[in-house]
Amino acid sequence: MTIAEERKVQQEKKGRRIVLFPSPLQGHITPMLQLATLLLSKGFSITIVHTRFNSPNPSNYPEFNFEPISDGLPNQKASDVEFMALFSGLNVSFEAPFRDMLDLMLLKNTEEPIVCIVEDGLMQFVQRVADHLKLPRMILETNSVASLVAYTSIPLLRQKGYIPSQDPMSKTPITELPPLRIKDIPVIKGDNQESLYELVVQVTKQRNTSSGFIWNSFDYLERTELSKIQQCCQLPNFLIGPLNKYSLESSTSLIAQDHSCMIWLEKQAPKSVIYVSFGSLASMKNTELMEIAWGLANSMHPFLWVIRPGSVHGSGWVELPNGFEEKTWERGLVVKWAPQQEVLAHPSVGGFWTHNGWNSTLESLCEGVPMLCSPLFGDQKVNARFVSHVWRVGVQLENGFDRGEIEGGIKILMDEKEGEEMRERIKIVKENAEICLRKGGSSHESMNRLEDHIMSL
Ligand code: UDX
Repeated sequence: MTIAEERKVQQEKKGRRIVLFPSPLQGHITPMLQLATLLLSKGFSITIVHTRFNSPNPSNYPEFNFEPISDGLPNQKASDVEFMALFSGLNVSFEAPFRDMLDLMLLKNTEEPIVCIVEDGLMQFVQRVADHLKLPRMILETNSVASLVAYTSIPLLRQKGYIPSQDPMSKTPITELPPLRIKDIPVIKGDNQESLYELVVQVTKQRNTSSGFIWNSFDYLERTELSKIQQCCQLPNFLIGPLNKYSLESSTSLIAQDHSCMIWLEKQAPKSVIYVSFGSLASMKNTELMEIAWGLANSMHPFLWVIRPGSVHGSGWVELPNGFEEKTWERGLVVKWAPQQEVLAHPSVGGFWTHNGWNSTLESLCEGVPMLCSPLFGDQKVNARFVSHVWRVGVQLENGFDRGEIEGGIKILMDEKEGEEMRERIKIVKENAEICLRKGGSSHESMNRLEDHIMSL
């Protein structure tokens, strides 16, 4: 396309507004803002609808129009909120205000027609409102394709008797979903498993009435898994990730990042540091935190450990065990929240001990940092299994948090030949992530198709 033609296309998109509505969780807000940044660069106007609870910071995005919705939700941190309660609450209290807000936008902005709503598939009322107003709706999948395949297989897994399981930690393979085992099924902890299964069925139904799926993943990584999705659903798919490569996560972070750790990293030897973080939602027992502390201390490796306030059930901040500081003096640094992408890109970092949230997993793949995997719930279990057994760029701790196993895992990752081989393999993934975003690459091409698709809706 000539420059003049490109300018004409950009001009056509000017004034076409896309309304993006992320679920109010860090792991969902981050990719949605990254997608919005990308769509803005293509000439679309952007509105971000958000809850006051876990609100993104509008001053980081002066070009976007932010529309807060009064939610009446308790003023809590995401980790304090029970998943099912959060989403049932949203579905009850948000439908009317969201519809009223869009009604008003449609009335006021006749020169800027809304071409599409983008949501992440968890808030069922968005579909009802979009259908009512006859607005096209697309889904931004904030998890891996592999985990979506597993979620959509939940009815089959029930039919075959894999779930509910007497032993949810069973290593029995699921022959229908290799390489997953019963313990890798992406269940979410909760009292009422039946209502969780029902939610999965409803979400799948709702996804399948959308105008298509936008994936934060890339062809090289998840081509095979995508073909499984395509077998049972004919809607268009756009693999345009990894979205984190378009913008640093610093502007999307809901928590202030402590940049002082970058100075500390400067003083460490190349590839010597293990970076430890379990994301924005993880909450563990104090005894588990103690095992992590001693596992790190006994590993004798330098470490940078993120302990987010609220990481331990029922306590704002944590006491580290007696003797821990002496044993790890000048070798370990603890921070409340780090600039994760910058940390992973730092040459001193040689390994990432992670819960395998999809954003963290992608960020690690993109920086070529092999992983020690401690998945905690949901999609993280599937991601960890793919990291360790499909892409083979990490090792999974299979028995929760046990200091001996942690020490052994860190050794494999940081010192042994197996870890070195993972580092070689992940270097190739990193290169391919870069290639797919270049002109002519799969994600670049997919993004072009997505623009055309949105314009045709
Ligand atoms: C949640 C779910 O837990 C996850 O399974 C799902 O895939 C997405 O939503 P979360 O647990 O927060 O997300 O994990 P993750 O997806 O990894 O997102 C965490 C984000 O916080 C990452 O972008 C990471 O860079 C950022 N982060 C983390 C920081 O900026 N600083 C930190 O110290 C830790």
